[in-house]
Amino acid sequence: MTVCEYSPGLEGIPATKSSISYVDGKNGILEYRGIAIEELAEKSTFLETAYLLIWGKLPTQAELTEFETTIRYHRRIKYRIRDMMKCFPETGHPMDALQTSAAALGLFYSRRALDNPVYIREAVVRLLAKIPTMVAAFKQMRKGNDPVQPNDELDYSANFLYMLTERVPDPIEARIFDICLTLHAEHTINASTFSAMVTASTLTDPYAVIASAVGTLAGPLHGGANEEVLTMLDEIGSKENVRPYIEKLIANKEKIMGFGHRVYKVKDPRAIILQRLAEQLFATTGDDDDYYQLAVEVERVVEEKLGSKGIYPNVDFYSGLVYQKLGIPRDLFTPIFAIARVAGWLAHWKEQLGVNRIFRPTQIYTGEHNLGYIPIEERICDTERPGDS
Ligand code: ACO
Repeated sequence: MTVCEYSPGLEGIPATKSSISYVDGKNGILEYRGIAIEELAEKSTFLETAYLLIWGKLPTQAELTEFETTIRYHRRIKYRIRDMMKCFPETGHPMDALQTSAAALGLFYSRRALDNPVYIREAVVRLLAKIPTMVAAFKQMRKGNDPVQPNDELDYSANFLYMLTERVPDPIEARIFDICLTLHAEHTINASTFSAMVTASTLTDPYAVIASAVGTLAGPLHGGANEEVLTMLDEIGSKENVRPYIEKLIANKEKIMGFGHRVYKVKDPRAIILQRLAEQLFATTGDDDDYYQLAVEVERVVEEKLGSKGIYPNVDFYSGLVYQKLGIPRDLFTPIFAIARVAGWLAHWKEQLGVNRIFRPTQIYTGEHNLGYIPIEERICDTERPGDS
């Protein structure tokens, strides 16, 4: 076994072999199962892409129809899960609600028959089908409303927007949203996918796998950034304020949300597509264009200041603008990321099961040895508690 040097954040250390997706961060290339993301965004749908990621090939028409129909059939959630969700605090973050609800699915469906393809298929279908319903249900329930039941007439993305907004969406809006899901469906071994793989490697149930990935995605350095991008744009307020605001962040060594990526050192290819979608949406409605222009100015100034360090917009920079324009509340942006990424997490879960070895990295111990146990009355207090004077 080769012993590698310690690399904080495991940067550059391969943690698995995978044929699911490929990223070339220098040239801004992203492929799912060998197909360019640009082509999938243009020609595929989210569910077809999910099928591709999980089963490794594009489905035939019959396979796709069967997959879509089964998912449509499984969209509803059990009333006991709805009742549990009603008890969640309405001020709680929807990611926490989603993590809890996803884990709760395991109470109802876990049989852990991981060597049975039927069990695998059912788990894939249930998770893809029910996660959007749970996100939309919490959005309604925290306002004291009953959840909107899935509409069997609508496809995956249109149905989600319908459950969220209680109106059948415009087909263009539904298509744009579906492309957003495709763009977020998979991205190699990022933090949440790694979390999913570590959990999967213990051979626990898939609901625990997804719940742990959701918890990891919730952090502001990962999926939480698109919420913060809009907060930043609000704070900036006007085009004139962009330069001083960005310069101040850089001077204070603060991170600019929606910029930078561990792998991409050029503009994220997903950000390029999302920017086009944002342009399309803003052009359709005509209003609020100032907000989009503000984002473009932020990109221009950040590129001028930090482009030489390889810091460009990532997937989160324009996605928030698109979601806001679709009328989605900000704290649902990350749960929507999770709805999409369930496809990638499940693909890695399935791949992990095929070659499983429990993850057990090593560490470099930096503590002391042979210190001995000090009786409590001999211990010296060497830290002040907050409030002590
Ligand atoms: N703003 C300003 N400077 C930045 C940014 C940023 N957004 N990102 C990186 N840098 C700078 C760092 O200050 C550092 O500079 P230094 O070498 O002079 O000290 C250098 O670039 C390297 O930064 P790291 O934090 O070491 O890069 P890392 O690869 O660990 O971080 C990360 C990647 C976490 C995404 C980072 O760029 C970041 O925090 N961005 C803002 C949050 C964000 O948008 N997250 C979403 C990422 S996409 C996703 O998860 C779906």
